[in-house]
Amino acid sequence: MNRRNFIKIIGAGTGGVVLSSHLTGCDVALDNQAFGWNGPDKSIQDIRMQVLAYAMLCPNPHNIQPWMIRLTGSDSFNLYVDPERILPETDPIYRQIHIGQGTFLETLAIAASGLGYKAEMTYFPEGMYGNTELVDKPVAGIKLVSEAGIIKDPLFDFLLLRHSNKREYSDYRVVQSELDALHAAHQRHSEFSLTFVNSPQEKALLTQILTEAMQIEVGNRQRDLETIKMFRFNEDEIRTFRDGFGVAQTGLTGFKKIFVESFLLDRKTVEADTTEFGQQSVDMVRKVAESTNTFAWISSRGNTRLDQVKVGRDYCRMNLQTASMGLAQHPMSQVLQEYDDMLALQGEFKKHFGIPESETVQMLFRLGKAAPVEHGPRRLVAQIIKVI
Ligand SMILES: Cc1cc2nc3c(=O)[nH]c(=O)nc-3n(C[C@H](O)[C@H](O)[C@H](O)COP(=O)(O)O)c2cc1C
Repeated sequence: MNRRNFIKIIGAGTGGVVLSSHLTGCDVALDNQAFGWNGPDKSIQDIRMQVLAYAMLCPNPHNIQPWMIRLTGSDSFNLYVDPERILPETDPIYRQIHIGQGTFLETLAIAASGLGYKAEMTYFPEGMYGNTELVDKPVAGIKLVSEAGIIKDPLFDFLLLRHSNKREYSDYRVVQSELDALHAAHQRHSEFSLTFVNSPQEKALLTQILTEAMQIEVGNRQRDLETIKMFRFNEDEIRTFRDGFGVAQTGLTGFKKIFVESFLLDRKTVEADTTEFGQQSVDMVRKVAESTNTFAWISSRGNTRLDQVKVGRDYCRMNLQTASMGLAQHPMSQVLQEYDDMLALQGEFKKHFGIPESETVQMLFRLGKAAPVEHGPRRLVAQIIKVI
């Protein structure tokens, strides 16, 4: 297998921390090999550390894990965007990064309910900033309140199971009763629109648009390098960085995975010339879209930072809900992105699907059936805690 074939297999997916000794101690107790996916170690007493360990398992763009926590009390903390963990080339206004704050908050709230606590949240407690800027102000203040008899959110049972499944799907078409169930679950919590696309004609059009969007995305070296920076080329990189995504998330396992990572992947070569990586990313998008019969998106009338955070919460629930129904799910964000050269295609996408120009499509994803893939790694809780 040459390097080209290898990349064919993988395609592309599309701070300043000071540790206090007791927090570091907590994390040592986590199962390092599982990168957080066994949940917090039973020996961890601090409820803040327990819910944070779960929250870090949420879906987030490129698995960059853009969170920073400042502890504010024995049962409270603030969540901030980590300014060193952003994606300025592909997410120039940090919209997706804020969706990734919402997914974190929702996972945290669900986890708290499963552990007998209510997570009281105040959004932007020091004021909301504009939707094109990033300011060192908290996205949310969180207080954990012990509540006897609190009802465990049923999605709690799927926090350690959920993942984004980037492999090709079987030709299963999500049935109407499943779409109805997803709609109902969404409507119980959300103020935003959820749209499903489930016909062969719409699928064909969307496949074309998504493929073209990836073609546009990879037409820029800086964007390619940003993605490649988050791509984990081998186990060593995964152990060192504990973030990003690699071949495992596309479904490659066992000997094939080891072979590809050991002999065919080389960061230096791919970074020196990103052309092939880009072309294979386009091919991969076309292939996975063609293998899918059902697509969906969440759109909002407004696009404030608060809207983005709330959409993240809703998307997270949707991801957990599909996991609970045995469905695979995978966001495909390129056509939604805000850099100049994407805007014309984004306009066409909205026009074709009757989405008002004034609305923002916040998350676009595909749904179907596929064997699960390996979980993406997560850092240690202590790595997101910033001691003031
Ligand atoms: C706002 C947002 C945008 C995303 N966009 C994409 C995308 O365009 N392509 C893709 O393969 N995955 C996308 N993802 C999925 C992430 O790559 C995934 O959540 C992350 O790698 C963590 O893996 P996990 O969801 O399996 O835990 C997106 C996730 C979020 C929250």
